[in-house]
Amino acid sequence: MNDKLYHECYRHVCQARSLLENLQAWGFDTVTPVLKKSDVGSVVDEKIVPAPDVVKTLDELKDEVERCQRCSLARSRSKTVFARGNPRADLVFVGEAPGFEEDRQGLPFVGEAGGLLDRILFAMGLSEKDVYICNLIKCRPPANRNPAADELAACRPYLECQLSLLEPRVIVTLGRFAAQLLLAVQTPVSHLRGNWYQYQGVAVLPTFHPAFLLRSPAAKKLVWEDMKKVKQRLISEGCKLN
Ligand code: URA
Ligand code: URA
Repeated sequence: MNDKLYHECYRHVCQARSLLENLQAWGFDTVTPVLKKSDVGSVVDEKIVPAPDVVKTLDELKDEVERCQRCSLARSRSKTVFARGNPRADLVFVGEAPGFEEDRQGLPFVGEAGGLLDRILFAMGLSEKDVYICNLIKCRPPANRNPAADELAACRPYLECQLSLLEPRVIVTLGRFAAQLLLAVQTPVSHLRGNWYQYQGVAVLPTFHPAFLLRSPAAKKLVWEDMKKVKQRLISEGCKLN
């Protein structure tokens, strides 16, 4: 099987898995294996499952996220948090979930952890206009608790769609949840960080979360090593920087 076909099949398998997880999160415990075309249409029409494939632009996806009612976080959020930065950037950062300040402003990484992320970017010689920053889940979990499995499952198609529209060259995942979800592994982030992986054919480098660095400043040295690798890769691949 050639690479393109392989990735296409892989993408469909991922989408099928997300679809099943979403149905499960909605309380479906059985799926009829043979669906008539009209049945499939009605599932999509009723918006039980969003259909990221029919979403054509990031703006349309953002609008869909703003209206999203797919999990209980919709009831407690102030604003959905879609992204900040440059949609044409070759480098995308994927964090975990909005916190207090992000929920208030509707932008990712604008609180204390965001301040540290901006300083990391500055040290790399980059700014917001050179990167695109988003999260695994688009609504704030109350009291900044960890995202729950059903929330991750409900929100995952949005991230998958967002990344496929962005077509970045390099993805940096921040913290445990983003790395484990995108790479579909349970490995601790301390083992994953600093190594290259792939997500749908795109290079992924997991690193620690800036909020973790605020609690454990000694780990900043490791993140800096990781960011040097990222910058080297972007340069060696002739990606646009500044
Ligand atoms: N932590 C995250 O993972 N994302 C944000 O947007 C803010 C804090
Ligand atoms: N544990 C996490 O969840 N994230 C980190 O970045 C580091 C440890």
